[in-house]
Amino acid sequence: MRRENGLISITKGACRRALVRLVGRERLPRLALEAAGARKVASEALRGLALERFYDEEVGRPYGVDRKAKEELVERFQRNTQGIESGTTWMVHVVLAQEILSVPAGTCGVVIECGCWKGASTASLSLVCGLVGRRLIVCDSFEGLPEDDGEAAHDYPHIRAFGYYRKGMYSARLEEVRENVARFGDPSICEFLPGFFSESLKALTEPIVMAFLDVDLASSTRDCVKYVWPLLVDGGAVYTDDSCDMNVVRIWFDDPWWQEALGRQAPGYVGSGCGLALSPDFSSVGYARKVASPQESYGRVPWLHYPDGSAGPAGSSSENSP
Ligand SMILES: C[S@@+](CC[C@H](N)C(=O)[O-])C[C@H]1O[C@@H](n2cnc3c(N)ncnc32)[C@H](O)[C@@H]1O
Repeated sequence: MRRENGLISITKGACRRALVRLVGRERLPRLALEAAGARKVASEALRGLALERFYDEEVGRPYGVDRKAKEELVERFQRNTQGIESGTTWMVHVVLAQEILSVPAGTCGVVIECGCWKGASTASLSLVCGLVGRRLIVCDSFEGLPEDDGEAAHDYPHIRAFGYYRKGMYSARLEEVRENVARFGDPSICEFLPGFFSESLKALTEPIVMAFLDVDLASSTRDCVKYVWPLLVDGGAVYTDDSCDMNVVRIWFDDPWWQEALGRQAPGYVGSGCGLALSPDFSSVGYARKVASPQESYGRVPWLHYPDGSAGPAGSSSENSP
């Protein structure tokens, strides 16, 4: 320890000696390694947590889908994202699978995917839909992205990135997708709805229990929301793979647009700007849920007030607030 201009400065050597006293000589190199590998540790922990949630025995129970079946699904999701060029990670497929397996078994409705590219996410979704006995409607132009409206760059502030999409990006033919789903998924429950969403989605009529939008553009997202949201069942969710793109996220908070297009307030979006916590930095996935009455659907908490004077669960403390 040195004194400089009245300030105490700690030299590297002193620091090291203090640490050795604190943790012992043998643990010091390990600690250093742990610090260097903090990101790796955090990644593994978050992945472990996501899988733990997925393997919870309540998830899939109404459909008779047990832990072994879910482990097999995870293996196949991994295989799908390796075997098919994919715009999504297998972890995103796990999140989507958890949502589908958590839909009450008595709720009627299909699963819809908008934006399949070569079919990696489609193959995984089809496997889950096969297990729960729901049809999967797969919607895509099968000729890639349309022209992006406006010249504004897409900005991703949380990962400090920006850029543009070009017409025709992510193009794959319907035949290629069919082949991939036949090889890696369950084609028996898939229906394909080809065309640009602004026209093709007008054909949708059935209730939807879950939608997955991976469509990149704000204009495409609006087209999907316009036709999908009215058919979404109460309690159902729309997931998107564009959670970090502010051009897309903004739509979920755009009250004037929602009022005009759907006659209701914007629902907001969970995961805005950084995605659900699947990795230490960001993830691509987030969702909006349609809930008519939060009072009936969600639980009470100790850190909020209730007009009927009832209290939330015991252990009340504002420390528990998010
Ligand atoms: C990023 S890719 C989807 C990636 C895929 N989900 C995966 O996991 O590999 C985006 C897809 O959205 C489709 N798409 C975007 N906007 C569209 C629109 N307005 N109409 C039809 N398809 C559209 C594109 O054709 C493309 O296949």
